[in-house]
Amino acid sequence: MDVQVVGRALSTLPEDDDHPYRTGPWRPQTTEWAADDLDVEGEIPADLDGVYLRNTENPVHPAIELYHPFDGDGMIHLIGFRDGKAFYRNRFIRTDGFLAEQEAGRALWAGIAERREKGIRKDGWGARGGLKDSSSTDVVVHAGVALTSFYQCGEVYRLDPFTLDTLGKADWAPECGVSAHTKVDPRTGELLFFNYTTEAPYMHYGVVDADNRLVHYTEVPLPGPRLPHDMAFTENYAILNDFPLFWEPELLKKGVYAVRFHPEIPSRLGVIPRRGGPGDIRWFEASPTYVLHWINAYEDGDEIVLDGFYQDDPEPADTGEGGVYRRMFRFLALDRMQTRLHRWRLNLVTGEVKEERLTDTITEFGVANTLIGGQRHRYAYAATGVEGWFLLNGLVRHDTETGAEQRYRLPEGVYLSEPAMAPRVGATSEDDGYVLTFTLDMNEDRSDCLIFEASRIEDGPIARVRLPERICSGTHATWAPGSAIPGWHQTESAADALGFRR
Ligand SMILES: [Fe+2]
Repeated sequence: MDVQVVGRALSTLPEDDDHPYRTGPWRPQTTEWAADDLDVEGEIPADLDGVYLRNTENPVHPAIELYHPFDGDGMIHLIGFRDGKAFYRNRFIRTDGFLAEQEAGRALWAGIAERREKGIRKDGWGARGGLKDSSSTDVVVHAGVALTSFYQCGEVYRLDPFTLDTLGKADWAPECGVSAHTKVDPRTGELLFFNYTTEAPYMHYGVVDADNRLVHYTEVPLPGPRLPHDMAFTENYAILNDFPLFWEPELLKKGVYAVRFHPEIPSRLGVIPRRGGPGDIRWFEASPTYVLHWINAYEDGDEIVLDGFYQDDPEPADTGEGGVYRRMFRFLALDRMQTRLHRWRLNLVTGEVKEERLTDTITEFGVANTLIGGQRHRYAYAATGVEGWFLLNGLVRHDTETGAEQRYRLPEGVYLSEPAMAPRVGATSEDDGYVLTFTLDMNEDRSDCLIFEASRIEDGPIARVRLPERICSGTHATWAPGSAIPGWHQTESAADALGFRR
């Protein structure tokens, strides 16, 4: 392994920090690495070609009062595979907030679990305003550039998918921001997005074309402020949502952001033609729940088939057990939310909705084959969670046709990141490829990238690629094939492309 330190951020966290989401698997990094020719146990398949990108929350200053893991500064990890070799790089996203706090040497903005007036800077981002936009939630690759986004609507930061240098912000992002989850259609190269605000009409939906131009932006009127997190799309439609989990309206008027679930209000799924306006939206009512993440959607005759993670308990009760953090983070524990793979069938002719629980197994953070987004899928690759914590400890491959599941459980004390499915170059079937994840190994104090055969998850990894340092736990990840990255195959080697030796 050829390793270089390429940067180091200022951290003012105490040596004896004891915050549960800044220690252990959440221990933040301050060092930015570039490593080439990574050490491998097993063999990296020669037909694995592209990059796995992972966004993490990586705090460098104590919170003003109460730290929440979504407050941490965004750090992107990249592992690239080409010609049976792997390289790695990690960089902080140079957001306005990160740079301002590096300059100040302390936290300036109040976090998600804090009141806005506690902040030194009262301006900011987020649907509720006044937050630091850490761009720490999701990452996708669109028009040859990696885009990062923030949990609660913010700017879209552009990163070079080789070097991870921050290239600035997307100029097409509307003033009220872009929600965490944007969707890239591999068929058209378009990026679909939405945002939400506390002001009428409360939601917008937009389309950016393959040449990075905003070509569509429309209002999506809702009955009030909502907290949608993800969206889905098919060949002809975008699917938005209005779930009955939202900020309590009376408290909202007083500036208090308290999330409540209303089991008496149905869920609503909004189907809009991809270039449609407010008058074209059709709302379908379904059983009350909250969905944090969708797997995929596709058209099947008159129906839209939509797979995602249904929550049996979107507002887990406070049992009074444990300290403030344990109680606060019950909203992030999969076992508390009871998240299960679920299918909605929306009939565009009759307006009927059919729902089906696809499994009893609790999983979340699931993906289908990246390259069939919006088209019919069969398999979902998802993660299991540690009881009571926002940590992932195993993989499950769900076969939505037969209900069969393959599982791989990591050893005690080893956690993983959201998986991505990387189709093999020249793949001939949906599951012809690999599943990738990063580990956080607390026993060995190391991180690896594990590579699984997508069709044989239960056999365990076929290769284990060592990273220079144990990374911090985080949220979302993605895969981009080399063919989606300009210059990927034009350079002599990945190391040259990364500029190691320049
Ligand atoms: Fe998410």
